[in-house]
Formats: sequence, C-alpha cells, structure tokens
Amino acid sequence: MNQFLDNPDLTLEPSVDSIRLQTQQSLKYIEEFFGTLNEQKVSFPADTKALRSLFSEKLPTEKNPFEALLKTIFEKALPAGINLPSPGYLAYIPVGSMFETAVADFITAAINRWPGLYEFAPAFIEIEKSVVRWLCEIMGMPEGSSGILTSGGSLANFTAVYTARVNKLPEEFFSGTLYVSNQAHHSVLKAARLAGFPKRCIKLISIDDQCRIRINELKNAIASDKAQNLKPFLIIGNAGTTNTGAIDDLDELAKICKTENMWFHVDAAWAGAFRLTDHGKKLMNGIERADSITFDPHKALYTSFGSGALLVKDIRTLKKAHTMDAAYLPSVDEDLETMNPSQIGPELSRNLRGLQTWLPLKLHGIGPFKNNMEEKLELTFWATEQLKAIPNLAIVTKPQTSIVTFTAVKQGASQETINALNKEILAKANADGRILLSGTTINDRFVIRLVPFGFRTHKPTVQLALDFIRKAFGETR
Ligand SMILES: Cc1ncc(COP(=O)(O)O)c(C=O)c1O
Repeated sequence: MNQFLDNPDLTLEPSVDSIRLQTQQSLKYIEEFFGTLNEQKVSFPADTKALRSLFSEKLPTEKNPFEALLKTIFEKALPAGINLPSPGYLAYIPVGSMFETAVADFITAAINRWPGLYEFAPAFIEIEKSVVRWLCEIMGMPEGSSGILTSGGSLANFTAVYTARVNKLPEEFFSGTLYVSNQAHHSVLKAARLAGFPKRCIKLISIDDQCRIRINELKNAIASDKAQNLKPFLIIGNAGTTNTGAIDDLDELAKICKTENMWFHVDAAWAGAFRLTDHGKKLMNGIERADSITFDPHKALYTSFGSGALLVKDIRTLKKAHTMDAAYLPSVDEDLETMNPSQIGPELSRNLRGLQTWLPLKLHGIGPFKNNMEEKLELTFWATEQLKAIPNLAIVTKPQTSIVTFTAVKQGASQETINALNKEILAKANADGRILLSGTTINDRFVIRLVPFGFRTHKPTVQLALDFIRKAFGETR
C-alpha cells in the first residue's frame, strides 16, 4: 500500500508567505548584528562544557518554531569564540563579512545553480571567469591569464602544486623537488604532501632578517639537488607570509624559475590586494611573471568564507592536470572559452563562487578596496611608530604589509623568560575582549603580532589596542 504516492509530505516546500516570514525574522537578527558591530566584543570566553551539552542533541524528530531556532543561533552560538567581523579583530588574517557578500551567499544558496559543467550555468560561469580575470588584472598577470575559484587558499595551493607536478614532472615524480622558505603557510607544505611528495622532496630554505627567503641558499640547494640527479621543478614564493607579512624577492625567484625551467607559484592569499597600492606593487615586483598565484577574496577582498582563487598564466596547464572523461558526463569540451570548471579543478560538485566577489566589486567598483588597502598600510606604519615609543618594547619585524611584530626587552633575561613575558603581556592586552592580538614564533622567539587588516578597523580601534598594549607592558616586569 503506497502511503505517499498521492499524498506527499510537502513540508520541505514552504509557501511564499512562509519564506517571507523566515526571511524577515532572520533579517531582524542580521540587522541587529551588523548595526552593533562597532560595539560588539571581539572575543567571548566560551563555556565549552555548557555549549557541548546544549548542542549534543539527538537527531530531531519533533518540529521546532523557526524563531526559537534563530534565538539559539544568535543568542547561544554567536556569543562564543572569536567575532571576526569586529573592528577589534587584530589577530589573524581572514576578516571578511562584507554585508554584500552575505547577500550574494543567500542568493547563491537560494538559486543553487551548479557551476560544474558549462551548460548548467553558462552565465554564472561567465561571471566566475570575469571575477578570475579581475583578480589576474589586480596581480598584473598577462592578458589571457585565467584560473579557477576555489574554496580557499589551501585548495588553491594544493591545486597549484599538483598542476606544477603534472606539467613539469613525469608520471613517476619522486625525483621532483620543490622549494619554499621556512615561513611558507602550512597549507603549502600540506599541499605538497597531498600532491604525493614525501618530506624529503620538500626543501625548506631559511630566511633573512626581513623573513624573506635567502636567495643564495635557494640557488645552492637547487644546484646541489641537480648534482644528485634530482629534478627541481617548483619554487613557491610568499607575497605576504602569515607570520609577519613578508614578501620574498619575487623578481629573483621568477628569474631562477626561468633559468631552471621550474614552475613559479606565489602564495599571495591574503596580501595580494596590496598590489592595488604603489607600495605593494613595488614590493611584489616579479609576481606578474608567476605561472600561478593563490589569491583569496575571502581574505584580501573581505568576502565571506569559501572564496579563494588559483590564477594561472596558461589555463591549459590546469586542464592538462584535471581533465577526466566519464561515461555519465557530457564529453570533454576542447573549447577553452566554454570550458567546464570541473575540468580545470579537483571538484565536480561545487557552489557558485563568483557572486560573492562579483556583487561587491560591481556595486562599489575597485576604488574603495584600494583606499582600504592604503589605509591599512598607513595604520600599520603609524601603529609601529607608536609601539616604538613604549618603554621596554622592541619591534621584531618592521611591517612590509599590515603585520607588525614586537617583543618585550629585558636586560640580561633569557629567551625563555622573554617568551613568558610576551605571553603574559599578550594575555593582559587581550583580557578586556574589545581587541584581539595574537602571537607567533619566529626563529624560536615568541613574539606578539598586531594585524590591522579588517576593513572595519580604523585608527580609534588601533589606538585602543595601543592603550591596552602600553598598559600591559607597564604592568609586566
Ligand atoms: C599566506 C596564506 N596562504 C594560504 C592560506 C590558507 O588559506 P585558507 O585558510 O583559505 O585555506 C592562508 C590562511 O591564512 C594564508 O595566510
């Protein structure tokens, strides 16, 4: 006896009235969230035990009112952990959450088009292609450069290493060696492992006093590996390390890659947008000659999470690495213009990624993004000067982009003692919850980082952070 054949359960198909009500109810909370961001704390101490017991629920069998669920999201889940969109977030990199990208995400999820095959979403794929071309233009890549939107920098770095492997090495690739500075983001090292390389193939090169890869050491390592019949095939340069924002000598790296016939990848995941400024353009000289670049709109252009990009000089290199035929899919398209995203990247099912970046860029133009990058540089350089005036504080790395690192100094104290002092100062500076700094280790020294990168972070917030830092230094001996 069929139970549902003529009497289906239509719960999952809400009426337009019900859609309107859910949207309006959600919007009330979202307006409140965006409207009070400047007053919200950046960090909330979380009672993880209480949260775990609240959310460790059994598969629901009962209905719940929508309003009650919104309350759970906004009143129980949101005030726990780190509030990235807050202006006081001066700790790590991704600081997206432009409202416009949230709208784009909502539309994206609502229409749920599939951009894996061109014929399923030709207009949206053209939008993605436009976004990729704009990013290539920002990075100064040659006309005809292209690429693919990814879920983020980790997937972009993985796709780059794998693509370099396929294009530069034979099927049996274990003699291949790749070179990065010891400041490379860990996703780069993970990418190399995921692309099949054992640790011995990954050559970590040391850094100079500005945390940039040592070019001579790199050249020597390549020469020595070649002498042992290894096949150096890839250099990965940093355009904005995560630790200190350092930018390698990309011009030199490009020259070495050309001479040695190696693939040149640059990880510009977060700092790439500084190329919109004259300062950044000068520091990144050479990036335009890269074979591939990682550039994440969800960091550099403040879109919501799930928005990275791998830009390539020659789209055919991506195609060579990723094209697969399958009986149940339409035949592989040879036309580069109408190429299927699933043939130039690792994913088949993927969300539409273009709108998150397309909507804000079309709405505002690139101008405000450039102005924001200029402001962030000015803020960081200004903050560095203010920090220098604090007694017993020394700058460790001068900012190349928008990260400055600093440390406590104490005559005659061991590095261990200084590390402990820095940790104490960091905890004190963050204690109020309105600003959040972070720490990192550079050559075994624990240092404090100030990262004024968020678009809502302006001088008054950095001033507040400086006040907390000054006070924390004053209280710590
Ligand atoms: C320089 C750099 N590369 C890659 C990544 C990884 O990006 P994602 O977190 O989007 O995977 C990050 C993340 O902060 C980064 O700073």
